[in-house]
Amino acid sequence: MYRRVVRPVLYRLGKGDAEVAHEQTLHGLRRLGRIPGAVAALSRTYGALPTGSPRTVFGVRFPSPVGLAAGMDKNGIALPAWRALGFGFVEVGTVTAHPQPGNEKPRLFRLVEDEAVINRMGFNNLGSSALADRLAAYGDLGYPLGISIGKSKVTPLDDAVEDYVTSLRRLSAYGDYFAVNVSSPNTPGLRSLQDAGHLRELLTALHAEAASLSVGGLGGKPILVKIAPDLTPSAIDELLAVCTEVGVAGIIATNTTIGRPGVESHPLAAETGGLSGRPLTEIAAKTVAHIHAETGGALPIIGVGGILEPADAMRLFDAGASLVQLYTGLIYRGPGLIRRINRGLT
Ligand code: FNR
Repeated sequence: MYRRVVRPVLYRLGKGDAEVAHEQTLHGLRRLGRIPGAVAALSRTYGALPTGSPRTVFGVRFPSPVGLAAGMDKNGIALPAWRALGFGFVEVGTVTAHPQPGNEKPRLFRLVEDEAVINRMGFNNLGSSALADRLAAYGDLGYPLGISIGKSKVTPLDDAVEDYVTSLRRLSAYGDYFAVNVSSPNTPGLRSLQDAGHLRELLTALHAEAASLSVGGLGGKPILVKIAPDLTPSAIDELLAVCTEVGVAGIIATNTTIGRPGVESHPLAAETGGLSGRPLTEIAAKTVAHIHAETGGALPIIGVGGILEPADAMRLFDAGASLVQLYTGLIYRGPGLIRRINRGLT
């Protein structure tokens, strides 16, 4: 139904502009969330969660280990609807301390034949203050919320720490975990924050902030680091050593790749940006397996990248992921994919 009916309509919106389809989908879900009974109806079709006990990972209870990856609902506008589509958790953001428009359009491209997407959105978001206001208005969502934070474009790299800390402070009361995004390829210099020295400084400051806010609600809330799939194994090992030393709660692997594996000949492959979807399946699984082996399974992993079938999710769990997330799979397979993964877990 999704692939035959809904997807062709979505792909024609805005004369085929992928971002128009994205915006319309998001706003449609937001409207649905406000219609009495609509969320319940959606939930009856898609929302069944795996039976059996929910998983507790880094101290947070997840009704299903399948989550929505960061970037889809950056400003958290459709939060009631995601649970009804079967997601067990949602990661909003990436948000930055300053609101920003992101890069010039077009900045989102579908490589349909390869079930892949290239994006160079550049953290378009309304800012961490606006997100805090919105989350305060929602109240309890009934599922765990992750909040991804990144650096504002106007903030020089040398002042990055304060930019992240500002967002963490504003949002401390609303997230069940926080994802430190140091891996987007679309903010110049951001990925250099994955280097041991920079990362140690950033994570130490964020943990200090978390500790100082414990009375105000953060109380040692889990902080995770999201990494790029383009790091060498030795760079990953250095990063893991810092994460262990500082005491992060887990790793999210992976963000989009600047490589073009298997899609080199596609006419859109030359577009600048991060590649997601099917070309990431293999890389994400290998990265998760590497982290799991290197840490002896001591550091929880959220596996993300190239889940287009339930088997892809199972592969990430088998590689050592405790939770998984997806984004591009939703574009190509629709919400039925979430239902099928949840069923497979039952
Ligand atoms: C992303 N992703 C992303 N990640 C992140 O940490 N912060 C962000 O703001 C975004 N923005 C974003 C926009 C778009 C259009 C896409 C396609 C992706 C990366 C995303 O969360 C995920 O890590 C990768 O897309 C890999 O997973 P999938 O898409 O292959 O399931």
